[in-house]
Amino acid sequence: MTDIVLLKGDGIGPEIVSATKKILDAAGADLYYHEFDVGQTSYEKTGELIPQATLDAIKKYKVALKGPVTTPVGKGFRSVNVSLRLAFDLYVNLRPAHSVENISKFGNVDIITVRENTEDLYIGEERKTDGGWEAVKRITEKATDRIIEYAFSYAAAHGRKRVTCVHKANILKNTDGLFLTRFREIAAKYPRILADDKIVDNMCMQLVTCPEKYDVLVAPNLYGDIISDLIAGLVGGLGLVAGANLGKDAAVFEAVHGSAPDIAGKGIANPAALIEAAVMMLDYLGKKEISEKIKSALLKTLENGVCLTPDLGGAATTEEFTEEVIRNIYTFVETRP
Ligand code: NAI
Ligand code: MG
Repeated sequence: MTDIVLLKGDGIGPEIVSATKKILDAAGADLYYHEFDVGQTSYEKTGELIPQATLDAIKKYKVALKGPVTTPVGKGFRSVNVSLRLAFDLYVNLRPAHSVENISKFGNVDIITVRENTEDLYIGEERKTDGGWEAVKRITEKATDRIIEYAFSYAAAHGRKRVTCVHKANILKNTDGLFLTRFREIAAKYPRILADDKIVDNMCMQLVTCPEKYDVLVAPNLYGDIISDLIAGLVGGLGLVAGANLGKDAAVFEAVHGSAPDIAGKGIANPAALIEAAVMMLDYLGKKEISEKIKSALLKTLENGVCLTPDLGGAATTEEFTEEVIRNIYTFVETRP
């Protein structure tokens, strides 16, 4: 059995976490779940968004599957996601997105976004000036090198052919200039992978006109945030896309959408993105056979289109969708040679 930390989160979090857990168990993932609260639910119980016990558990077990959390409105609350990234130096934000037949607006999309997760404008340093405010965009050699190295080694390990650097170095000559220069230097160590770059505005235009041409994208934090949501839109929306936050000593897997308070408790949330996150987690844990089983059952459920949740135009409940994925896991097992 493999120990993992399970963070239920807020809003639809507990519903989709419980659905995902059922699927993991049905597929035989052999996991032991250490369940903890984070976010608003935790704040109401303990006065903390991330209690020390939760941090200690992630430190101990190193892998967490996390439901979405609500960041309470008001000053002084740092988002749980940002806190976790900082606490465990989760410097990679990996967001794969692929087309699903009958659902995605675009066919043939299969793009991995590798987003830098620790610096850029997200350090949140803003200061008052005479006529307004300014914000610090921090780009360091250390963070740049490790994210670009990660993008190329990921591409090499997964048979990917092309890595594209997304930047605005024509305007931000030093910060994005550093990112682009290091990209070109590191690319030279990977002669079998095509390396090119695109200015971020042109990248957006390219992605909505010919997304099938792109493979792995590597970007500083802000551009990575924006383009990965744009790509999610190309393949069917936030309800389908997962993300992994990876560091040397810990990994947190999650859906990219939020806690959807408007539909919480109604039993109609789409668990697909969190199931995708669980698939990424199983790959990370080396449980490739189980992850393939779940991945193909999820894809079949989505492509069949007979049991979809309302966000995808269907009328199924979270439970019905989950049961359908489980049925497809069992057929997958039975039809294997
Ligand atoms: P949201 O992603 O929660 O919801 C946007 C819209 O998409 C809503 O209409 C919602 O019903 C729908 N939606 C999202 N996920 C869905 C799913 N799995 N199935 C069906 N419909 C789904 O974004 P919103 O409303 O801006 O944020 C709500 C809360 O979530 C905020 O407190 C925000 O801070 C937090 N949030 C947390 C994230 C995380 O924990 N990773 C990421 C983004 C937002
Ligand atoms: Mg975002």
